[in-house]
Amino acid sequence: MTVDAVDYKALPKIELHAHLSGSISRQCLHEVWLKKKEDGETDLQDPLIEMPLGKHDYDLKTFFPLFSSYIYHLVNDTWALRYTTLSVLSDFAADGVVYLELRTTPRAMPSAGLTKSQYVQVILETIAEFEQSNTASLRTKLILSIDRRNTLREANEVLSLCRQFSGKGVVGIDLCGDPARGPIDILGPVFEEAKRTLPELGITLHFAEAEASGTEEELLTLLSWRPDRIGHVIHLNERVKEEVKRRGWMGLELCLSCNVHAGMICGGFESHHFGEWWKVEETVVVLSASPTSPFSTDDVGVFGSPLSNEYALVAKHFGLTRADICSLVRKGIDVIFGGDEEKERLRGLIWSA
Ligand code: IMP
Ligand code: ZN
Repeated sequence: MTVDAVDYKALPKIELHAHLSGSISRQCLHEVWLKKKEDGETDLQDPLIEMPLGKHDYDLKTFFPLFSSYIYHLVNDTWALRYTTLSVLSDFAADGVVYLELRTTPRAMPSAGLTKSQYVQVILETIAEFEQSNTASLRTKLILSIDRRNTLREANEVLSLCRQFSGKGVVGIDLCGDPARGPIDILGPVFEEAKRTLPELGITLHFAEAEASGTEEELLTLLSWRPDRIGHVIHLNERVKEEVKRRGWMGLELCLSCNVHAGMICGGFESHHFGEWWKVEETVVVLSASPTSPFSTDDVGVFGSPLSNEYALVAKHFGLTRADICSLVRKGIDVIFGGDEEKERLRGLIWSA
């Protein structure tokens, strides 16, 4: 069978690196804006003008301010949080995703009287509501993110929320945020405590996303926190690569479209480091979507490439056969944070080579 015969949308897929706010489609942001405009609740510019459909050439400098100066001002109450979360879940389900680990940075919404804990609670309730009312096979878990800019107190707050919601839908903790911000050493004790006191919690870290966050010193520090998975994995020297392999069975969350569109790698898709890693026995490569908002793969809303397209891209640029694609997706089951029961469900659902 040729690679062209694969229906990538129908292929049951696993998405492990989706930022909630970056996965909201521009159309959905527009709908939120329309309602708020009608209710006299916003002076913001229409999202379709702020982030025109088809514009995906955001880079690391223009990308991060989009959240703090725009999206967070629009998604600023319980209604908008529920509405956008439901839309993100529907988009992933429609793209054939059967297991999703959505990550988000807990955010208080003072104008709506929402605490960080209530923010997490609303998202978990929305996930439960979606799963009860929808016939799709999609099951979703939550990862809570620490931002590189966080103080130790703020990072500890995220860990407390992980503790509070562990067993209730939160399955992991992440380090994200602008890679130009640092240093990250002060956050080490939080991840060490997570490992020590919440062994059931998975740890995933944004890793060598930019040159600034790709020094050997930073990367060895991040590895010393014993992550289960790492994201992006771009600027690694040989020593760090060997160290990653030596850890054994590390999940690599790779975001092709996001890296190419944002100019995070040199060259096009064929020079992406997916080519270097996907056959490495000691690691597990998992592809991630780039949303239709300004970001996509990593933030589909922004970069605009659904997960089905990421699989089509690797087949095209790296010559994966249908069997390769199926084995790649199946191997990803091993590095989910959602537990053994979920792994069993996925083994029954995901196509065998
Ligand atoms: P949220 O955590 O649901 O609000 O999603 C948006 C946040 O995710 C942003 O403020 C960033 O901190 C983080 N984020 C999104 N994409 C990236 C990325 O490519 N690298 C690091 N952090 C990111
Ligand atoms: Zn990310």
